[in-house]
Amino acid sequence: EKDGYDWFMRKEIFEQPRALADSLLGRRTPTGELQLDEMRLSDDELRDIDKMIIIAAGTSFYAGMVAKYAIEHWTRIPVEVELASEFRYRDPILTQSTLVVAISQSGETADTLQAIRHARVQRSKVLAICNTNGSTIPRESDGVIYTHAGPEIGVASTKGYLTQLIACYLLALYLAQVKGTRYGDEISQVIDQLEEMPGHVQTVLDRADQVYALAQEHVGTRSVLFLGRHAGYPVALEGALKLKEIAYLHAEGFAAGELKHGPIALIEDGLPVLCIVPPRGRDQLHDKMISGIQEVRARGARTICLAEEGDDSITPYADAMIRLPNVPVLLQPLVAVVPLQLFACEIATALGHDVDQPRNLAKSVTVE
Ligand code: M6R
Repeated sequence: EKDGYDWFMRKEIFEQPRALADSLLGRRTPTGELQLDEMRLSDDELRDIDKMIIIAAGTSFYAGMVAKYAIEHWTRIPVEVELASEFRYRDPILTQSTLVVAISQSGETADTLQAIRHARVQRSKVLAICNTNGSTIPRESDGVIYTHAGPEIGVASTKGYLTQLIACYLLALYLAQVKGTRYGDEISQVIDQLEEMPGHVQTVLDRADQVYALAQEHVGTRSVLFLGRHAGYPVALEGALKLKEIAYLHAEGFAAGELKHGPIALIEDGLPVLCIVPPRGRDQLHDKMISGIQEVRARGARTICLAEEGDDSITPYADAMIRLPNVPVLLQPLVAVVPLQLFACEIATALGHDVDQPRNLAKSVTVE
């Protein structure tokens, strides 16, 4: 049931605070340590891991890209992220100390399933991050972290993606705890921050009308670009995928630093560019993003900036602004993707498309 919403997708977008809270439930022991019940891989096995490969498709792949930033930062284990459909065909280097992480909302994606079968034949350990209890991918894995998004019906993944991010952060922190690469205090501080995320996502949802109004202004556009850096880069890719899938619009996401290496040639008068601005005060990331935004605007782009509350440095270069709660850069995807989901849903609705059943797409892709 759609509970009064026009689409399952919109309902699922608004369910995200609850889905996040459910996915965080019961993850701490009474003494404050992180626990992952269905992990099944022993601490000894995890301590031996010296390389990780994340495999997934579509939106789940973009969750994997965010995971790489978090896992490498907190654990210092090198992480590769690979499209499931490409994985087997490049003769990947897999050993017993490689942990392969398969991210799949449905647990039935054929490309991802074939990839984990390949990894297990090479005797690597496989961990699934999955939203569907008892589905094939977790059944064929050595361990699993279930997300608790509840059933996702809209073909375009929304709450599935956000809860995958939560599972990835928890995995990263768990590995840091087991490997001792981070102190307990720091780990519980990040878990505290994660526990604030359902509230932050709710804040973004409370301002949905602003995003809808912006979307309505762009219904006639033929192309939309998305720019991000660091953890905001995969968010740009995900924002573009959402628009392609349900609004059938040409949309592309770029790493802002790559602009001058080619994509800036695409900029023309009035082209909407959604820019995900990293939080202030970390390296030069924020300032470099601003200069990227200046560059596209100087060439006629219409800049729609997603920036944290209180960040006024961006105001002179923003044709429109969407405010995000103040959160650490690694967790920013959780709040930054939400306006992009709302934007795509609103444009697709205005164009008269079937948002829940976009043309040519299936909810789970069980053929290779
Ligand atoms: O069920 P999975 O997470 O394995 O599905 C992977 C992709 O097919 C899926 O994310 C697809 O890209 C969605 N339609 C995205 O909205």
